[in-house]
Amino acid sequence: MKVLAINGSHRKGSTLILLEEALKELSEFETEVISLCDYKLEYCKVCNACKKNGGICIVNDGYQEIEKKMKEADAIIVGSPVYFGSITGMLKTLFDRSRTLRVNWELKDKVCAAITVGATQHGGQEHTLQAIHAWALIHGMILVADSDPTAHFGGAAVAKQVDGEFKIDEWGLQTARSVGKRVREVLKAIKG
Ligand SMILES: Cc1cc2nc3c(=O)[nH]c(=O)nc-3n(C[C@H](O)[C@H](O)[C@H](O)COP(=O)(O)O)c2cc1C
Repeated sequence: MKVLAINGSHRKGSTLILLEEALKELSEFETEVISLCDYKLEYCKVCNACKKNGGICIVNDGYQEIEKKMKEADAIIVGSPVYFGSITGMLKTLFDRSRTLRVNWELKDKVCAAITVGATQHGGQEHTLQAIHAWALIHGMILVADSDPTAHFGGAAVAKQVDGEFKIDEWGLQTARSVGKRVREVLKAIKG
């Protein structure tokens, strides 16, 4: 079974660290983490070609590679820093482009979980998680959150950059680990 983690940050920083922390709990599966900042992603142009041609996007860029990875995954953990109380523009662009995968419900029944990080406590982490949840639900994915001992809506952390290093709060790191554990539990329960 494959678990794909998507780092929606515009850089490789604290979101990436949290996703890697979650993936440590999933070492019995094939895991991969990708960072959207490594890809060129155009906006959805609303040409509706994908709706008419069976789900093929006619904008040729980095999306096709990400789309293939999402199709092949059994579970997807989506990470985003909080940007003005919600997900990053880059992640929203990926979500919009993923309309191609809804034409034939290709993400349906995959497990999905969300992780976020902000610079401040109460900086919009819950709303950011819910923006990711909306995407997963609209695709018919099986949405999971974190589990014991943190158990709320997913991974939610606070990070500061000190002397070039990312300092993430311990409870936040624990929520990311709990996400990994919960994804493992649910993958085993539903896929055997
Ligand atoms: C454009 C922008 C908007 C941000 N808005 C918020 C915010 O609303 N709330 C918050 O807590 N942090 C906010 N931050 C801080 C980031 O969420 C924080 O630095 C996070 O750790 C960055 O994750 P990264 O290291 O994975 O890039 C913002 C940062 C940027 C660049």
